[in-house]
Amino acid sequence: MSRPKITIIGAGNVGATTAHWCAAAELGDIVLVDIPQAGDMPKGKALDLMQASPIVGFDAQITGTSDYADTSGSNVVVITAGIARKPGMSRDDLLSTNAKIVGSVADEIKKSSPDAIVIVVSNPLDAMVMRAQKVTGFPHHRVFGQAGVLDTARYRTFLALELGVSVEDVSALLMGGHGDTMVPMPSCTSVGGIPVTRLIDPARLAEIVDRTRKGGAEIVGLLKTGSAYYAPAAATTQMVEAIVRDKKRLLPCAAFCDKEYGVGGYYVGVPVIIGASGVERIIELDLDAQERADFDKSVTAVKELSAAMDSLV
Ligand code: APR
Repeated sequence: MSRPKITIIGAGNVGATTAHWCAAAELGDIVLVDIPQAGDMPKGKALDLMQASPIVGFDAQITGTSDYADTSGSNVVVITAGIARKPGMSRDDLLSTNAKIVGSVADEIKKSSPDAIVIVVSNPLDAMVMRAQKVTGFPHHRVFGQAGVLDTARYRTFLALELGVSVEDVSALLMGGHGDTMVPMPSCTSVGGIPVTRLIDPARLAEIVDRTRKGGAEIVGLLKTGSAYYAPAAATTQMVEAIVRDKKRLLPCAAFCDKEYGVGGYYVGVPVIIGASGVERIIELDLDAQERADFDKSVTAVKELSAAMDSLV
């Protein structure tokens, strides 16, 4: 029996860090792909990472390439290709450039790994997943986006810091698009089983939600030369693990919703079950009036972004 084959496209910060964590967790053999102009950089990172294996203790073949023939028959493909945000840029500013990059990458995946499950990480996320699905033509359950796991992790981190408790005891859910309109769900947030609303007053909770919404920009502002990668890569690795180990994790992901939540055919962040087939189920919750209003606003932003992208490509 061979190991799962995981291809990561874009060997930059998010891609290489995802490779690092997938390797350390022994999730499979890894192929790191970048453009020919990147030269031997993906090969160098792959070899360097594999030389960590005797120390960390993992068995995996890790290779770097710019040739999609080396990726053929991948079980999982992660798309991180694209340009990252610079200070002052919104995720939407990336729209035109990354839509072209993700489109060309998706076309290659369609030919080289027709049965793969595709996780999109490139921003602006909700539009990029839509692009990848349209170009591959893969069923919707096999193409979805990483955003909610990261946003929720940021939220959980801030809540744990606020309360001085272990992050492991904070369970939370954020829905909607991966942008400033993401929707916190206080009714689905608890600390050791205690509803968060019994531990933090509404005004302070609103401040924490606001910091979460701006979590990506906060990192961009500090790094100055790029955007976050440790937490995005960790979030992506959790999704890869859910697939290759068929874990049936309940995670917030950008999944294609048609009738679900009345979205009408767009990718948006919702709680889903992730297993060996990809998105195996979308969990539909009854939203209260505030959550519904916030969710609808977020879906409107996603629709506008998708329309803007369609006019560009
Ligand atoms: N095919 C393969 N790789 C590509 C392509 C392409 N067509 N176009 C660009 N790349 C590569 C770049 O050469 C670079 O090595 O994608 C890599 C991107 O790496 P970084 O610039 O380090 O960006 P990173 O921080 O990894 O972010 C990548 O993930 O979180 C999102 O917003 C982020 O859209 C951005 C993406």
